[in-house]
Amino acid sequence: MKGLILSGGTGTRLRPLTFTQAKQLLPIANQPILFLSINTMRDAGIHEIGIILGNTAAEVRAAVGNGEKFGVAITYIEQSEPLGLAHAVKTAAPFLGDQSFLMMLGDNVIHGGITHAVEQFIRQSSDALVLAGPVANPEQFGVIKVSDERVVQLVEKPQTFVSHLALCGVYLFQPIIHEAIRAITPSLRGELEITDAIQWLVDNGYSVTHCLTTSWWKDTGRPSDLLDANRLLLQDITHAIEGSIDAQSEIIGPVRIAQGAVIKNSTLRGPIAIGKNAHIEDSYIGPYTSIGDEVQIRKTEVEYSVILEHSVIDQAPRLDQCILGRSVRIGRTSRKPRTMRMVLGDSSIYEW
Ligand code: G1P
Repeated sequence: MKGLILSGGTGTRLRPLTFTQAKQLLPIANQPILFLSINTMRDAGIHEIGIILGNTAAEVRAAVGNGEKFGVAITYIEQSEPLGLAHAVKTAAPFLGDQSFLMMLGDNVIHGGITHAVEQFIRQSSDALVLAGPVANPEQFGVIKVSDERVVQLVEKPQTFVSHLALCGVYLFQPIIHEAIRAITPSLRGELEITDAIQWLVDNGYSVTHCLTTSWWKDTGRPSDLLDANRLLLQDITHAIEGSIDAQSEIIGPVRIAQGAVIKNSTLRGPIAIGKNAHIEDSYIGPYTSIGDEVQIRKTEVEYSVILEHSVIDQAPRLDQCILGRSVRIGRTSRKPRTMRMVLGDSSIYEW
C-alpha cells in the first residue's frame, strides 16, 4: 500500500511563524511535525510515500530529502494551489495508480500510531476507513455519524451538532475514491473536500468504516495546539543527557539535552527538550518547554514554551506560553532611554 502525506497549505492560523516557514516543519519536542507523520506511516508498514507540496516545496524537500533517513522512499508531488484535500488526491492520482492507499495530513500528530487502522482496513476490505477521535469542539473539524459500525454521515465544520467524533486526518481508500472526487464540486470555502468525496461513497452504497484513535491526537493548526502537542509529546521523553551540566545546576524530572548544549548555574524542571549547542545560564527552564539548536538563554525563566533555533533571550521577564521563531532576540537594553524597542513581523503577538 502506498502512503500520501499532505504538506501544502498556507498555515494562516500560525502566522507569523508561517510567513517564513512551512507549518509542517515547525517543531514539537524539537522534531518537525512532518517527520512524526512520516515515522507514523513507516511504523504502520508503509514505505512508499508521496508528499504533496505547496508554496513551501523547496523547504520541505530540503528537510525530508529522499526519505532514506526515515527508512522510506519519498516521491514529491506539487499541488498548483491549495484547493482542498480531495484536490490533493486528484493531483496525486498518477502516483497512487489503481492501488488502495493511506492518506495523512502532515500537520496532525496521532499518538499511539495508526497500525490498528491499517490492519482493520485490510481485514474489513471496506471502500474507505477513517480514523476518528472525540473532541469538545466538533464545529472546528469534519465529523462523522456512525450506525452499526458503518459511517452514515460526514459533515465538514458542522454548524449544528452532528457528533463529537472528529476526523483526525487519517484516511484509507480503495481506488473508487478517485471516482468520488470526480463527482463532487467545491464547498463554500472553495475547496474540494475529502469529506464530501467520502459522503459520496456512503450515498452511492459503498462501505465506509471507522476506527478510533488509541491515544491523544492533535491538529497543530493554531499556536495553542502547537504548545499542547509539545506538552503531550514531551511527556514521553526519556531522560538523556549528552550536553554538559555544571555542578551549580539542578535537574528535576526527565530532560533530553542534546550534544554540545551547555547548562550553567540553572534549574531545569522536566519534561524538557534542549537542542544541540544550546547555551543556558543563570536561568530556570520549566516543564513542557522545547528549546531548539543553538538557542542562548541568560538570566531568564521560561516555561511551557517552544523556542526555535538560534534565538537569544537575555534577562527577559518570565516567559510562559511563548512560541518564538528562529533567530528571535529578546533582552534588556543598556541604551538610554530605557523604553521598549521592538521589531515585530506582521501578525506578531506581544502581551504584557
Ligand atoms: C481538515 C479536514 C477535517 C479534519 C481536520 C483534522 O480540516 O477538512 O475534516 O477534521 O483537517 O485536523 P482543516 O484543517 O482543513 O480545517
